[in-house]
Amino acid sequence: KRVGVLISGSGTNLQALIDATQDPSRRIGAEIVLVISNNAGVEGLTRAQRANIPTKVLSHKDYPSRQAFDASLHASLVSAGVDIVCLAGFMRILTGEFVKGWRGRLLNVHPALLPSFKGTHAQRQAIEAGARVSGCTVHFVEEAVDAGAIIVQEVVPIEANDTVDALTERIKLAEHKAFPRALQLLATGKIELGDDNRIKWL
Ligand code: GRF
Repeated sequence: KRVGVLISGSGTNLQALIDATQDPSRRIGAEIVLVISNNAGVEGLTRAQRANIPTKVLSHKDYPSRQAFDASLHASLVSAGVDIVCLAGFMRILTGEFVKGWRGRLLNVHPALLPSFKGTHAQRQAIEAGARVSGCTVHFVEEAVDAGAIIVQEVVPIEANDTVDALTERIKLAEHKAFPRALQLLATGKIELGDDNRIKWL
């Protein structure tokens, strides 16, 4: 399967996806054919270039509306022959139209155990709630933010006197395992998104 990855920043999840897909022994069943960032000059773009993966910068600021920006994203992905889109720290909310167009083929990673702690600052929310564990979730994207059928979750402990930074790093390590596994499940046909918006295990 041909994968497009959308990023906005450091791209450590992108790096995990690159490493996994470029290692034939891991049998992910997918290759990354395009990386798009809405920010120029970010570390994630350097990671893609180092791996000889084509990159594109599409700045949302160059478009009059969310619809116009998403239409341009969509066109770039289609013209690269992308089958599956991974959101790896992509900090823009996508329109319902875009999400519908990639239904069952659009994955996101969130730094908490959904449905707990949706939205931004999920790590701080978990600490402030006094939770003793948090983790990450890879899920199919639905129109509502951080909603959609859950594919893979990984749990990490929250330590006594934990800091947001330390928890963020611990969760990222979990994401780097979970995201390639979720991609593999979809790319190798082990799962699909059912008509009832639940995971169908095949
Ligand atoms: C990750 O923690 C992800 O859960 C969130 O954004 C972060 C991206 O980090 N959506 P990176 O750019 O992959 O390092």
